[in-house]
Amino acid sequence: MNKEIVDKLSQIQNPVSGKTLSEEDRLIDVEMKGEDLHIKYKRDGISPDIKQTLEKNILTALKDFVSEDNIFLLSVSENSQDVTSKQTADSVNPKNPAQLKVGHGTVGEKRKIPGVKNVICIASGKGGVGKSTFTANLAVTLAKKGKKVGIIDADFYGPSIPVMFKRREHRPSANEEQKILPLENYGIKFISFGNFIHEDEPVVWRGPMLGGVLNQFFFETEWGELDYLLLDLPPGTGDVQLSMVQNIELSGAIVISTPQDIALLDARKALHMFDKLDVHVIGMVENMSSFICDGCGKEHFLYGTGGVVSSCGELGVGYLGQIPLDIGLRKGADFGTPFMTNPEKHSESKVWSAYLDISGKLDSYFYPDDNKKKGLMGKLFS
Ligand SMILES: Nc1ncnc2c1ncn2[C@@H]1O[C@H](COP(=O)(O)OP(=O)(O)OP(=O)(O)O)[C@@H](O)[C@H]1O
Ligand SMILES: [Mg+2]
Repeated sequence: MNKEIVDKLSQIQNPVSGKTLSEEDRLIDVEMKGEDLHIKYKRDGISPDIKQTLEKNILTALKDFVSEDNIFLLSVSENSQDVTSKQTADSVNPKNPAQLKVGHGTVGEKRKIPGVKNVICIASGKGGVGKSTFTANLAVTLAKKGKKVGIIDADFYGPSIPVMFKRREHRPSANEEQKILPLENYGIKFISFGNFIHEDEPVVWRGPMLGGVLNQFFFETEWGELDYLLLDLPPGTGDVQLSMVQNIELSGAIVISTPQDIALLDARKALHMFDKLDVHVIGMVENMSSFICDGCGKEHFLYGTGGVVSSCGELGVGYLGQIPLDIGLRKGADFGTPFMTNPEKHSESKVWSAYLDISGKLDSYFYPDDNKKKGLMGKLFS
């Protein structure tokens, strides 16, 4: 292990106490794995906001040794209740924590969510194709265009939005009417089951009971005025999808697929489900479409090419575009800083233009007038 790195790390201060990490004996493990630096530290007594500052300081202090993309920080806490700042005490253990109502979702008339103009679900037939990453980055891109955007993480079995928005440990509050107040970061409001349960707790609730929680996320959450509410769905065509579609008026669905035939087969199942349920499919997105080698610059189509666009033609569904594989997308998701929040680093990339292009198509579809009159911001983000 490079001694200079350890020395540098040891001298970084806890922003609250002013003492160094070594004085507080916080460093547990510092290990270089190939090009990646893995740092494990004790975070007891450090609030989520202070943690953010501390980790930024770590990245800056080590920038001459390891690129920030290659630094992996893992914090462990012996006592998760041990929080210092008032702000943290409130966000981790709010005075009036929102409570989930476990019950059966009522199936009746489709309802609109007051104040929410467009509700769009992001679906896929197969898991791990990038729905949550797409939802997070689409939300950020639409918000940059001046739209008010919210997200419901409807993936009860593997919620990932809290991590992607750096709010893993926050617990939503309720207002006086006991409505849930969504969490917020990067200008996006969001609500996730992940902020109500501990990561290690098994989700033993059965599908129909989850319908009750989903209803609460839709209708008993203080969303305010939103142009878009995006629903990040679990993969497949099961209970959550059905109870959602039965209860609310959706403006449309976006189906994500990777280019392999096997993923496309599953994506077709999702398309058929929406067709049967009378939900308009706005279009399909091909994710992980190619890999651009950072050594030779050549674009490699690892999983073949053209599968999604030709399926769209065959099935009469719109094609929204393709997003290449990019390590920055994965790291942004893991670190809670979505790719599209960082123009300094990413605005020259293919992924950046893909997101601008796709969000532009979507926004022109729902707001054709806004997209005709383009000021500077419109030009930058459309
Ligand atoms: N274009 C991309 N380039 C590189 N990594 C990506 C890309 N899209 C997604 N990923 C990564 O792939 C993994 C799966 O993505 P994600 O969690 O968004 O998929 P998902 O469809 O929501 O999965 P699940 O079905 O489990 O909910 C994540 O580690 C994510 O960071
Ligand atoms: Mg997901």
